[in-house]
Amino acid sequence: VRAKLLGLPGSLRRNSNSLAILRGLQDALPAGASMDIRDLRLPLYDQDIDTPDAPAEVHAFRQAIADADGVVIVTPEYNYGMPGVLKNALDWASRPYGKSALIGKPVLVISNSPAFTGGVRAHQQVNDTLLALPAKLLGGPQVVIGGVGDKIKDGKLADEAVLKFTLGAIDRMITTG
Ligand code: FNR
Repeated sequence: VRAKLLGLPGSLRRNSNSLAILRGLQDALPAGASMDIRDLRLPLYDQDIDTPDAPAEVHAFRQAIADADGVVIVTPEYNYGMPGVLKNALDWASRPYGKSALIGKPVLVISNSPAFTGGVRAHQQVNDTLLALPAKLLGGPQVVIGGVGDKIKDGKLADEAVLKFTLGAIDRMITTG
């Protein structure tokens, strides 16, 4: 299968575990699949600037989603929820109303945390937001990565079992999406 994926880390920091997960997956994808990783540094959502003259990075972000066969969102958990950076980006992506590039788009949500809880509360929030559009959320076993610090080496997800489980989810998204 040929598939062009878009990876979105819900954290902006350079040494983000969420980014490291995407980098590890990027390296491990099967032949024919590729993934661009894009950070979510966007202006704060403001309906007054959500016009055809919206900032260029907003248009580029929406276009990147439109161009992708599937989106992989890797979220950390901030205070029992998804980071504002990610919610902000999803709000931008959700518009124009009824024409969002996320409508019907296959999306895999992955959460992670140094804690054993794996960011599962953030995972739930991202799912709920995606259902508002609705995106085509991948169901089935959820990818929730706890104790993530031990699973990353040299800035990349390196845990064989987690990689295998997650690639299985990506495969389901590609083949059913
Ligand atoms: C956190 N962290 C955190 N972890 C968690 O499991 N549940 C939580 O509610 C929170 N809350 C929280 C709030 C804020 C403001 C920060 C900065 C952090 C810890 C968090 O999981 C950890 O910092 C991760 O490393 C952040 O993800 P990235 O940046 O590594 O992708």
